[in-house]
Amino acid sequence: MNETVIAIDGPAGSGKSTVARAVAQKLGLAHLDTGAMYRSVALAALRKGVETTDADAMAKLAKKTHVYVGPDGVFVDGVDSTEAIRTEEVTKAVTAAASNPRVREVMVERQRTWITNNGGGVLEGRDIGTVVCPGATVKGYLVADAEVRAQRRAAEHGDAVANDMRRRDRADSTREASPLMRADDAVEIDTTNLSIDEVVDVVVGLVP
Ligand code: C5P
Repeated sequence: MNETVIAIDGPAGSGKSTVARAVAQKLGLAHLDTGAMYRSVALAALRKGVETTDADAMAKLAKKTHVYVGPDGVFVDGVDSTEAIRTEEVTKAVTAAASNPRVREVMVERQRTWITNNGGGVLEGRDIGTVVCPGATVKGYLVADAEVRAQRRAAEHGDAVANDMRRRDRADSTREASPLMRADDAVEIDTTNLSIDEVVDVVVGLVP
């Protein structure tokens, strides 16, 4: 692979989104928030009354739902859902959606297509370095003290979302399909006491 792919994985509130966006901007690469894709499928299920635990129905829904995640927002079946995918309801529903291996299959394929179409890029998520792009140029695994992560989330999305963080991380780490984990060759970056700029510099410094 000669395109540059930067994989940024880690739990909620580790700073992935802010860092991934800044790294992409600095290097002139496209950025993809893969969490927004899983959130979009969960939102589509809520809108259409599909039970998120119904594996067959969710697999079908993932296939037929058009999801656009880009610099101008998140669009689900053409509807601007940039804010709608961040609600507490969607944050709860996304766990079941993301633990469905067939939903993941659809999303991973789209993420790989995105890499090809953009000639590389910065992808953030839970399984980028392990599943989506094991051959990524750079793999960063961001971690942070749980207390600090909860504070960051609360500042960004309010207390309810922050309180739900631990449940989500536990579910993401213990699920059978592509659990959240550090790839063997990923560089772990503890962001607890680092500024965003410092984390960005560490990631950019890893690019050969
Ligand atoms: O990144 P964000 O917190 O918005 O992701 C929402 C949820 O989507 C995560 O809690 C996780 O369950 C799921 N996810 C995933 N794999 C990814 C990105 C997100 O399972 N690559």
